[in-house]
Amino acid sequence: MSDPVLIRPIQPSDEGAVGRIAYQTGFFGQSATLYFANEPLFARLWVGPYFRGGGFACLVAESEGEILGYILGSPDPARYGRALRRVLLEKTLPRLAPLRQTWASLPYLLRASRYPSPHADWQQFPAHLHINLLPQARGSGVGKRLLAAHLKLLREAGVAGVQLATTTENRAALELYRRFDFVPLVSAQTPLWTPWLGHPAEHLGLGLRLKKLQLEKGREEGSSSS
Ligand SMILES: CC(C)(COP(=O)(O)OP(=O)(O)OC[C@H]1O[C@@H](n2cnc3c(N)ncnc32)[C@H](O)[C@@H]1OP(=O)(O)O)[C@@H](O)C(=O)NCCC(=O)NCCS
Repeated sequence: MSDPVLIRPIQPSDEGAVGRIAYQTGFFGQSATLYFANEPLFARLWVGPYFRGGGFACLVAESEGEILGYILGSPDPARYGRALRRVLLEKTLPRLAPLRQTWASLPYLLRASRYPSPHADWQQFPAHLHINLLPQARGSGVGKRLLAAHLKLLREAGVAGVQLATTTENRAALELYRRFDFVPLVSAQTPLWTPWLGHPAEHLGLGLRLKKLQLEKGREEGSSSS
């Protein structure tokens, strides 16, 4: 990458590029093609909600006009849920799901509903995020820049906390989150990807508090005045 990498807010026209990156990195940083044959459907389901009212402080990393990665987030689960329902009800969705490819993706969809990601308390950590970079953009600080910019926007908006799901397979991601003081809150062994990964994975839910809850503030004020 010769050109400096620019971090900027997502635009509606980025959806195609962001969806492709989600697919190209959707299996522990490698292509999701192994377990999900239908790329357009994957992209619509995974990134669509962030482009349809569910997203907040979503950013892309761009160099020489090419999008190299993104951070997508939503400030609360209700807003994300409404956007996901919007995607599922879209008239264009059935067109993205020709029977043969969708059939091949069905085992994963069924497993995903059977083995959902662990999540932390939504009241303390109402926001969630996803970050993914193309292989050529990794390891040179772009992830740190995206995450720092995203967290700054969440803090400015007064969001109480943010959570994310990852696995022990995502080594670089774990380092990145550790650098930003995310802490593990929940973990569970999951057989979700076993048919493609060859072994169970350790699913982790990490969280970062961004501001104190009113209750805690009250307690602190009470103890300092006594
Ligand atoms: C995870 C990811 C976003 C990190 O972004 P990145 O630009 O590669 O990471 P950075 O260069 O900003 O480095 C962040 C920290 O992680 C560490 N790190 C980076 N790559 C690493 C690797 N391959 N192994 C271990 N640590 C690594 C660095 O040491 C760095 O900390 P430091 O600079 O303070 O020493 C990126 O690698 C990626 O997209 N990976 C594949 C998809 C993925 O796993 N997404 C997360 C899903 S939960």
